[in-house]
Amino acid sequence: MNDASSVSGIFWNDSPVVIITSRREDEINGQVAVTLVTSSIVHTVPRLLVGIWKGNHTHGFIMKSRNLVVHLLTRDQIALVRNFGFYSGRDREKFPGIDHFEGKNGCPVLRDVHSYVECSVLNAMDGGDMTAFLVSADYGEIVRGGGWMTLADFYTLAPEEWVMEYGQKLMESVSFSMPIIHKISHEPFEP
Ligand SMILES: Cc1cc2nc3c(=O)[nH]c(=O)nc-3n(C[C@H](O)[C@H](O)[C@H](O)COP(=O)(O)O)c2cc1C
Repeated sequence: MNDASSVSGIFWNDSPVVIITSRREDEINGQVAVTLVTSSIVHTVPRLLVGIWKGNHTHGFIMKSRNLVVHLLTRDQIALVRNFGFYSGRDREKFPGIDHFEGKNGCPVLRDVHSYVECSVLNAMDGGDMTAFLVSADYGEIVRGGGWMTLADFYTLAPEEWVMEYGQKLMESVSFSMPIIHKISHEPFEP
């Protein structure tokens, strides 16, 4: 039996749920993601690998500005996951009522989070339906600190109807991915 999906799912389940924000000229936007890992063994040169689905509005912002901010959340911040992860910035503004300021890299920084780190894109690799961005972690702060939210926490703590809604959205996203997931471009990324 091939357990590839189950083994990959372990990484997914225990991944932190983060909000990634970016700027494109005068516009700001942000989305939820779990596809993010540390990618440097040099403590003084911190880097992350961030996977962003091409269908997301935020993807275009990062491609254009080459900057983003990663925010970790505490477990009681499920409402922020709904605000940034259930709707597209193409359909509604996500920042009204959300306390934020402009970071050093020009992207919006959410004020009340577990922690955040401002990042700049060093390189990128096409993944068909997503782009994997190698980013430099340039400036960060621990704000609330303590425990952070994982995807497993989201499924445990979110109301059942939110989980159902997210499941529906995920199915629509998979339909978008299927025709393009194997169409990987090997063109080098222009920094
Ligand atoms: C719990 C959760 C996890 C998610 N994980 C990812 C992810 O890892 N990568 C991704 O690109 N989108 C992920 N999403 C989906 C985006 O956050 C969602 O499609 C969002 O509405 C995109 O917003 P935008 O179109 O304004 O960029 C996740 C959403 C939720 C609720």
